[in-house]
Amino acid sequence: MGNLPRSFSPATHAQRVRQAMLALEPLQKQAATGRFRQRYHFMPPGGWLNDPNGCIHYGGQHHLFYQHNPYAPTWGNIHWGHATSDDLVHWQHQPIALAPSEPYDDDPDGGCFSGSAVALPGCGLALFYTAVRSGREGLVPTQCMATSADGIHFEKSPANPVVSSCPEGLSQDVRDPCVFRYGNAWYMVLGGSVGGARQGGEGCALLYQSADLTHWEYKGIIARSGGALGSMWECPCLFPLGGRWVLTFSPMFGDGQTSMYLVGDMDFNAPRFVPLHQGTIDWGGEYYAAQSYTDAEGRRILMAWQNGWEWMPWWKDFGPTAGEGWCGSMALPRTVAMDASGRLSFHPVKELEALRRPPCQTGPLCVDETPHAVPCIDPLCFEMELTLDLRATTASQLHIDLRLAGECRTRLCVDIANRTLLLDRSHADDGKSGDNRSCPLLLEEDQLTLRIFSDTTSIEVFTDGGYTTMCNSVYATVCAPELHLAAQGGTAHLPALTIWPLQA
Ligand code: FRU
Repeated sequence: MGNLPRSFSPATHAQRVRQAMLALEPLQKQAATGRFRQRYHFMPPGGWLNDPNGCIHYGGQHHLFYQHNPYAPTWGNIHWGHATSDDLVHWQHQPIALAPSEPYDDDPDGGCFSGSAVALPGCGLALFYTAVRSGREGLVPTQCMATSADGIHFEKSPANPVVSSCPEGLSQDVRDPCVFRYGNAWYMVLGGSVGGARQGGEGCALLYQSADLTHWEYKGIIARSGGALGSMWECPCLFPLGGRWVLTFSPMFGDGQTSMYLVGDMDFNAPRFVPLHQGTIDWGGEYYAAQSYTDAEGRRILMAWQNGWEWMPWWKDFGPTAGEGWCGSMALPRTVAMDASGRLSFHPVKELEALRRPPCQTGPLCVDETPHAVPCIDPLCFEMELTLDLRATTASQLHIDLRLAGECRTRLCVDIANRTLLLDRSHADDGKSGDNRSCPLLLEEDQLTLRIFSDTTSIEVFTDGGYTTMCNSVYATVCAPELHLAAQGGTAHLPALTIWPLQA
């Protein structure tokens, strides 16, 4: 890898970007009329999308980059797409930021993999990404940098790759740089594996340090799975919050987990991350590669890809949207909060309230086994807030049936007796929507509030005060303008129920 040709051409990169934008046009036209189009979740103009990358508040705007294939609605030939927003709700597509163009990243099975962005001292933006090309022994990752003066047009660094080999003793599963400044130095955290991601290895996070963003020194492994948290940590993100440090990552083969966090103390000299608390960011089947950043208000904003990979045991496929020229969307932007015990909670950004249209309000309601129909003007695109009085409720379960069409329904089951939340997709449609997902419910308060965000192909649930969240894809899109509530084993008492149609 040390002998890698370092030929580099800004002209070639600009040309590859133009070529990709031209290739995107027919897919964009096709996607524009797709019936599965999301209405307020971010999706690509056309083509493929996976992880959020380079999330940053820069020049007064939110910048969202993402893993993108502008040539097809399938994974491959990976570019960085780009969009900007003033409010995290309305996004403007920007020109493609990174295209494969150099010997170290120009490969249909590789390209410009995930990474992060930093604002350069003075002005300008730098992107860090994992360049992937095929080598004799498989895919070869190196860490690379690209910079921009206007935050829109990027040039790859002539110094690339800025990290040209994987640390000794580790597998080639080293990727997804998270770069940030702390104290007087720049740091890069990378996801890795001791023993190999697909060989049952141990996921870990690596630390590099730099004075100038170009020369990087390997400092060591700062945290590892210990055998219990997956075989490789994809998309690590390390940041300070509430006087502590948080490390988020997506574990490969993580035993049902798609996105996790560790809260602890970070010693940059040792270097070592000492975890005090471990938790799950989201329990849905489709919430992956979360990345966060601090905005101008000091909020920690979290973005994630609403989908998953074929190695996940419950994975079915990427859904039917590829037939419409696109695939993949982002889960809603969330803020992250930490309580005194170091637990994290997650909350939809307040800007989403701007989407609300005049609501339908009902309640108090006492629901029994007979389904209670609630009108829902737009059964695909709404926000619902429902409060359950746990003291007055005698039922063991509350069923919230969404996307009703004949025998079809998508059921959210609040299993009070077993303290479990279940999204049942087994009768959602003709099998497109995939497996069921369930998770523990805390039920720590006398009242349980559920906020449910439904979009054409998403159902996102926030409950337990933000300690329990669940993001899932659902592809049932033809349904009646109502939803049903029913209780099992007693009555369920709902002091309030509000449904807002949402309009972007
Ligand atoms: C996570 C991931 C990253 C990688 C990227 C490739 O979803 O596998 O580790 O950089 O996707 O698109």
